[in-house]
Amino acid sequence: MKYFIKTFGCQMNFSDSERIAGKLEEIGYKSASNDKEADLIILNTCSVRQSAEDRVWGAVNNYKKKKLYPRNSKIIVTGCIAKRKKVVEKMDKVDIFLDIKDLNKLPKLLNQNGIQAKNTNDYFQIKPKYQNSFTAYVPIMTGCDNFCSYCIVPFTRGRETSRPMEEILEEVKGLVKQGYKEIWLLGQNVNSYINHERIKSELKTNKGSDFVILLEEINKLPGKFWIRFVSSHPKDMGDNLIKVISHNGHITPYVHLALQSGDNETLRKMNRHYTCEDYLKLVKKIRKAIPDVFLATDIIVGFPGETQKQFLNTVKIFKQARFSMVYINKYSPREGTASFKMKDNVSMAEKDRRAKELNRALSKIALDNNKKLVGRQLEVLIDGRAKDGLYIGKDKSYRSVKIKSEKDLIGQFIRVKIKKAFDYGLEGEIVILDL
Ligand code: SAM
Ligand code: SF4
Ligand code: F3S
Repeated sequence: MKYFIKTFGCQMNFSDSERIAGKLEEIGYKSASNDKEADLIILNTCSVRQSAEDRVWGAVNNYKKKKLYPRNSKIIVTGCIAKRKKVVEKMDKVDIFLDIKDLNKLPKLLNQNGIQAKNTNDYFQIKPKYQNSFTAYVPIMTGCDNFCSYCIVPFTRGRETSRPMEEILEEVKGLVKQGYKEIWLLGQNVNSYINHERIKSELKTNKGSDFVILLEEINKLPGKFWIRFVSSHPKDMGDNLIKVISHNGHITPYVHLALQSGDNETLRKMNRHYTCEDYLKLVKKIRKAIPDVFLATDIIVGFPGETQKQFLNTVKIFKQARFSMVYINKYSPREGTASFKMKDNVSMAEKDRRAKELNRALSKIALDNNKKLVGRQLEVLIDGRAKDGLYIGKDKSYRSVKIKSEKDLIGQFIRVKIKKAFDYGLEGEIVILDL
């Protein structure tokens, strides 16, 4: 029996797919090279925007058309759509809806005897089938308690729950031993991580600082590897966290800190609990402590009622913060969220225009940032080949770097001297191979 997993959405889903594959292989399934060969098609879904959800239903409908469905395969829908009430209406087209937290129940749902994990409620304990030999994803917490007014995640992923620190450290140590070079710690609000085991013994909550303890523990591990983490919420970006990143150990100077809007009135309507002034103060602190930081952010354009003036406030703060990367999202109303009741009164054409304007601002800032790096030597982890045949990778800060090489360098740390700067990245020459 063969399975095929199609993953939509964020790195968290990608990581969950590795655990789904691990569970299926545990009970004897083999991976199919394409969906037509599969007896089991698993759609690991995203519903952050309507377009993401539509893509999933498009895929389900296509599979149900006979010609794309030659083996009478079972279709399983899991991930962030599975928990939504309205989904039940589409039940007849899907064989199994699986809440990812019930992954240990999958063998039973497939009428097979699976090996039970110690705690059947804890899907994190399932051994993942890592998809890459040098980059790995390690989920450390899931869910969200923040209820930003536009966001479906607290409803799809549920409340915040964190993994015990010992378990995370075990997984990280195992990966380092196997030679993994880049390890991503994942969570919807990764820096709100709580070590419940400690809290049980000390009877107090301490959001933010447990994450620092985890990073400090990882920093003590021997070996050459980089740690990245996403996504951080500004409210839990404390001084100690900034300090541990600045130590230049395994923790990389890559900070993904969602801003969402640069207008205080919009931030209030979004229920983000900070002002632009708070955010800029934080950026200033981060830049002072970590001069080489790569600051990435998320922005939503066209939130209900966002005026041109309010959008221009976002462009302004955007230039002040000098972001290296931005994920621009056009507002999409999600049923069940607080902002669904607000009128989605910014047209799609205007959302497109605002997204383009922000992208133009980003290109200019990124080019300026990159130009300063010409002549510098950077450590780069090569992770693939670009369309033009050059090898491509990321430096410790997460800047994109291309180099020419006759030798296959994928999965290796190398030292590069930067020769050219573009808005989308850098180009250089190899100084040292195999660091
Ligand atoms: N927890 C992270 C934070 O707030 O720092 C973000 C995680 S969320 C899954 C990823 C991004 O999706 C958000 O930062 C936001 O920009 C975007 N997003 C969420 N809901 C959206 C919506 N209804 N329309 C457009 N973008 C949305
Ligand atoms: Fe969504 Fe806000 Fe939670 Fe991020 S913090 S996942 S944007 S509700
Ligand atoms: Fe999408 Fe769920 Fe991630 S809604 S962005 S897959 S947490």
